[in-house]
Amino acid sequence: MNITPIGDPRQKVTPASLREKKLRHEPISCLTAYDYASSRLVDEAGIDMVLVGDSLAMTMLGYENTLSVTVDEMLHHTKAVRRGVKTALLLADMPYGSYHVGEEEAIRNAARFVKEAGAEAVKIEGGEKRVDVIRRVIDAEIPVVGHIGLTPQSVNVMGGYKVQGKSLTGVEQLIRDAVALDRAGVICIVLEGIPREVAALITSEVAAPTIGIGAGPECDGQVLVFHDLLNLSFGPAAKFVRHYGDAAALITHAVQAFRADVGSRQYPSDAESYHLPKETRQALETVLERKQAMGR
Ligand code: KIV
Repeated sequence: MNITPIGDPRQKVTPASLREKKLRHEPISCLTAYDYASSRLVDEAGIDMVLVGDSLAMTMLGYENTLSVTVDEMLHHTKAVRRGVKTALLLADMPYGSYHVGEEEAIRNAARFVKEAGAEAVKIEGGEKRVDVIRRVIDAEIPVVGHIGLTPQSVNVMGGYKVQGKSLTGVEQLIRDAVALDRAGVICIVLEGIPREVAALITSEVAAPTIGIGAGPECDGQVLVFHDLLNLSFGPAAKFVRHYGDAAALITHAVQAFRADVGSRQYPSDAESYHLPKETRQALETVLERKQAMGR
């Protein structure tokens, strides 16, 4: 077992080191992060890949789904995450509409994530039908991560967030998608919301590491949304979500305790207050005494 103690100097994670991990059968860890503080904690905890996911539309901005988040909003968050991440590979999601209109526009948008925000790779949803645009982005020297299965940007076409690849034709399409992405040269493939057996099959078929979310344990790595990991997502959790902590309870408890202390004047204490220097205090006391005496 290879355990890197927290705080130890780690090697920078790169597309090549991720592929080596697959070859060595070492699991790859990935988490989303959307701001400086959380991305710093995630990076320092030794996570391999930090994804500025378009899930920030819901987790950070309160939208109903991922469709309305813009390139500018994604860039704003990616820049903050860049300042918190040193070792992990920094991956940014291309939002809906940023790679659908044309290949030139897709390259222009992908390049903004690299030039303006410091992303080291971009993620594009879709399989076979996105391969041409993905090839063009890779040709522009921008590493791409693929994403197939339950692709949230297709929510209106799928008619909801439904597990994909349950029928034989569905399985065959997913395998074609994964192979096409692999041949195009993606650095990883996110497999979301697909049966475990299908994810295992794809993982053994492709050279690119597979990163699962709701795709079972045979994937080369796993990704979760930061807010799901910490019970900060408010809605009912998907089947695959495991809460590793309860930040909602922690924050609620802390905020309620602050409110109660303010209400009962328990906060701030004398020790939490600034004080005048001794000489100034004595001078002030003299002035006040004189004023009081004159007032009599
Ligand atoms: O946006 C996101 O958080 C994602 C992950 C669920 C893979 O795409």
